[in-house]
This record gives sequence, structure tokens and C-alpha cells, in this order.
Amino acid sequence: MRSFFKKFCKSAPHLTQQEIIKLPLPRHLAIIMDGNGRWAKKKGLPRAAGHRAGAETLRLIVETCLEVGMPYLTVYAFSTENWKRPPEEVKALMALLVEYIEKELQQLKQNGVKIKTIGNISELPSTAISRVQKAEKETAHNHKLVLQIALNYGGRKEILDAVKSIAGEVASGRLPVATIDTATMEEHLYTAGVPDPDLLIRTAGELRLSNFLLWQFAYTEFWFTEVFWPDFKVHHLYQAIYDYQYRQRRFGGLK
Ligand code: IPE
Ligand code: IPE
Ligand code: MG
Repeated sequence: MRSFFKKFCKSAPHLTQQEIIKLPLPRHLAIIMDGNGRWAKKKGLPRAAGHRAGAETLRLIVETCLEVGMPYLTVYAFSTENWKRPPEEVKALMALLVEYIEKELQQLKQNGVKIKTIGNISELPSTAISRVQKAEKETAHNHKLVLQIALNYGGRKEILDAVKSIAGEVASGRLPVATIDTATMEEHLYTAGVPDPDLLIRTAGELRLSNFLLWQFAYTEFWFTEVFWPDFKVHHLYQAIYDYQYRQRRFGGLK
């Protein structure tokens, strides 16, 4: 496992902002913020303390994306499968979401962040729904950084929803089958209008997608680290960006 991480990471210790802005940045960064529970366990704390520390890391990463001028950030906050967790943990996560929005909204608004959620929001507790809707409404006019928060999000559900919606248009006679192409699909995804992620970061050593952005990751560059999300710092982000900048993206063609 360790050699895997060595092979794919150049590991220049503690890069600075100057070093990563020399080359084009990813336009869209996606993050699977994983390892909050293990971080808490290692410290002998309840899992909720790990989620709280994770929210702090998110604040830091959003600030950094604004600083370097990255236009799109998508973070995986709660999956359609995370309902399988004990009810107390789900409750703690929802409470933390409400708290995060209450604490951060003013600053995010001022900093030009547009908050957008992807996933089935209607199944969340009502307090979470109202905070999320408020945040989306009050930041709708912003455009410096689009922050997509994946909440009750599942990649397969997103594709299914798109297919159902397209099928509905076909059935009603509004859409001829022969005209359906990848652009049609993209227009019906939760992420319509947002470019595909250039770079995916997953923390905490897991080498899988866990049902995140299955359609959109077709040509995304993946970067994994064993660092738990609450321990993830700005220099880790710079490292990921630096490694990304030295990848050769071919999109199926030749260099
Ligand atoms: C990620 O941390 C946060 C969510 C999935 C909501 P985890 O809670 O999955 O942490 P680990 O993987 O158990 O360490
Ligand atoms: C993915 O992490 C979901 C989020 C980070 C919100 P999980 O911890 O739920 O993923 P698995 O269960 O290890 O695949
Ligand atoms: Mg996990």
C-alpha cells in the first residue's frame, strides 16, 4: 500500500502557493472527505468529534480554493448509503451540517461562494432542508467559487434520476430518442452546467469511489492519501495539485 502512494505522489515537502500557481490549476476539484471516524478513534474521542474536526478542515480548504482562484469545488458530505450508520451518528452529522451553514454562511456570502447541493435534499431532516435552501438562495448570485455539497448523494441514484427524467420527456413526445446524446444526459444530472472534475482527492487510504460522481469521473485524475480528513492541511492540497499538474491527460488520444 505504501509503495502505491509513493509511486503516484512526487512528495516535494511542503509546497507553497507560489509553486502551485505556476501551472494551470484544476478547474474543478472533488473531495471524498474520509477518515473522520478513525481520526476520532485514534484520539479516543467520539466519532462526532471527528466530524466536527472534519468541518474545520472543510473551512480551511474552501478558503484555500478561494485564495488560489479555483472556480469549482465539490465535497462528499453524506452518501445515500450513510443512512446505514447508527441513528445517533446520522443525527450528529445533520446537526453539524446545520451548524456549519449557520456559522459559515455570512463569510461564504461575502467571499463570493455560491453554495449548491447535489443529492436528494427532500429526505433530510426539516431543519437541514431549510438551512440548505437558505444558503442556496442567499448565495445564488455569487460566482467566485461554486461549492457543491453532495448531501444524501449517490452516483447511481443521480444517473437513475436522469434516465427517468429523459424517459418522461420521450414518453410525452417532447424528446425524440434519436437525439439523446451525452449532452442530454449531462443536462439531466444534478451537476448540469458544472464541468466534470479534473481532480479527485480521497483521504484516509480507501481506494474506491463509494458511489460518488460515477458519470462525471470518466476522465478525472485521482489522488489518494492515507491522511485522515481532519489532519488534511493546506500543504496536502498543494501536493495533490502539484502532482496533478505533472500528470499527462490524454483523454484517449495521443500526447
Ligand atoms: C467521512 O468520515 C465522513 C462521512 C462519511 C460522513 P467517516 O465517518 O467515514 O470516517 P471513517 O471512514 O469511519 O474513519
Ligand atoms: C464516503 O465515505 C462518503 C463520504 C465521505 C460522505 P464512506 O466512509 O461512507 O465510504 P465507505 O463506506 O468506506 O466506502
Ligand atoms: Mg469512511
